[in-house]
Amino acid sequence: MTSIQQHNKHPHDYLWWKHGVIYQIYPRSFYDANDDGIGDLPGIIKKFDYLIDLGIDAIWLSPINTSPMYDCGYDVSDYYSIDPIFGTLKDFKELLAIAHSNNIHIIMDMVLNHTSQLHPWFVESSSSRYNMKNDWYIWHDGFNGKPPNNWKSAYLSSAWEKNEMRRQYYLHSFLKEQPDLNWHNQQVKHAMFDMMQYWLDLGVDGFRFDVINYCYKDKNLRNNPFSFKPFNDQIEKYNKNGLESYILVQEIRKLIDKYDNRMTVGEVFSYPPGNPALSASYLCKGKGLHLAFDFSLLYQPFDSHKIYRCIKNWYNHIPEHCWPCNVLSNHDQQRYADKFSQEDNDSIKRLMALLLLTLWGTPFIYYGEEIGMKNTSIPLHKIVDPAGKRFWPIYKGRDCARTPMQWSDEANAGFSHTMCWLPIDSNYRTINVKHQLKDRYSLLNYYKDLIRLRKNHYALTHGSWEPLIKGKNGIIAYIRKADSETLCMLLNFNDHATHIHHHYEAQWKVLFSTHRSRFEHFADLRIDCYPFEATILQKIGDL
Ligand code: NOJ
Repeated sequence: MTSIQQHNKHPHDYLWWKHGVIYQIYPRSFYDANDDGIGDLPGIIKKFDYLIDLGIDAIWLSPINTSPMYDCGYDVSDYYSIDPIFGTLKDFKELLAIAHSNNIHIIMDMVLNHTSQLHPWFVESSSSRYNMKNDWYIWHDGFNGKPPNNWKSAYLSSAWEKNEMRRQYYLHSFLKEQPDLNWHNQQVKHAMFDMMQYWLDLGVDGFRFDVINYCYKDKNLRNNPFSFKPFNDQIEKYNKNGLESYILVQEIRKLIDKYDNRMTVGEVFSYPPGNPALSASYLCKGKGLHLAFDFSLLYQPFDSHKIYRCIKNWYNHIPEHCWPCNVLSNHDQQRYADKFSQEDNDSIKRLMALLLLTLWGTPFIYYGEEIGMKNTSIPLHKIVDPAGKRFWPIYKGRDCARTPMQWSDEANAGFSHTMCWLPIDSNYRTINVKHQLKDRYSLLNYYKDLIRLRKNHYALTHGSWEPLIKGKNGIIAYIRKADSETLCMLLNFNDHATHIHHHYEAQWKVLFSTHRSRFEHFADLRIDCYPFEATILQKIGDL
């Protein structure tokens, strides 16, 4: 049997970013305290008791820096200030203080690859070919009236935009309003490191790095080779993942390590999505990022074989002494579990939540996941996401998973007293926090129970991971073991009852289950699982 061992053996080895639960807040959509229809920092402060009650250990805030919001904040025009939509620096400091006094950590989103085209650096850089910042972005002459090379932006048109003042092209891997910085320029690097230091000094507990693998590209701007893949007809060989990116994450690590207990998690963006080898490479064998996202799981169908293989593959790539993280949803993706759940039936969501919270690695929960928010269908005229506007109707964009948090069945789902920046799903009357808090067996209370259970069982946070049933007959089962405790997770992906008879010389008692009625003892893992049942068993003795 393969067993993946971790290296922390004792409870005092608790490291929040390894053993805790991280909750992603999309600030625009969490809670609107000033009734402008957009969520803000005072809103997060107002709802802080909810976060404490949920039991999370850290919050990752999607971008809150000043931005013209062409890409909902992923286009920063001032890295040192908070966008007035979200509040003030004073609000942010207050949030940090409240969080820290409740032992909750705050991770900021850090966009290093590009700025807004309204950032003073770009304004200066684009003003002429001769200025102090002329080389802070990636500028090049065209060839015969065409862009410098064939690179494409994430929006699948040329990644180059002509600037009339310089009569040159600049590179933008995303929107043309998001020019890419020239990280080969040491001044850019220093400016960005100074800025990160500013936020670390202020007390933030870490950073989530946006597309960290994009910062360095081929210095010679070589053309990408052609490919026959759908949507994108080129292999993205030269426009990202430059070798210097690995030096960059190691330098960032050195900066972070000067501070106590901070962390970094990187978004490693690949096409097609999900590349565990690439994501894990940014951990640099323990000298790079603390954590890196791999999105493979988000693209798996609800199929036990595929999900098992995906998890195992991810773990196989994690270098020794490094740590994985796991995620089901985020602001760029459809809400995963919702894709497979039938109306009014949370069983798949419960099963996936149990998987997420009992796997080896740090779990990330995306706001609203804990109440089972659904992918909301947004009409074309209300779409805000530039990707949705660009590709509609082939791809309707990311707004479906960014709608306001559903707090109650009151107007605007209790999120705001005014019309919200995105429409609220009409299901808010039934799917909301207020209802679920009252119902002992709601999805929300289920998440809370699971998070608490995870905290109280060292095997779930620190334990080894050993697969038992690898997706066969619709079942995934694995053991987590630490010191004196052995737990077994059984997950039935079938929509029908399934008998498991696995020879494992021990007696087990049910510790937790998606099915309330389950409170039995088992010998030798003989158990009839209900449809979509997921159960945590605790070893109580050898046979
Ligand atoms: C990845 C972010 O998660 C996404 O929301 C954004 O559009 C791009 N990076 C560009 O910053």
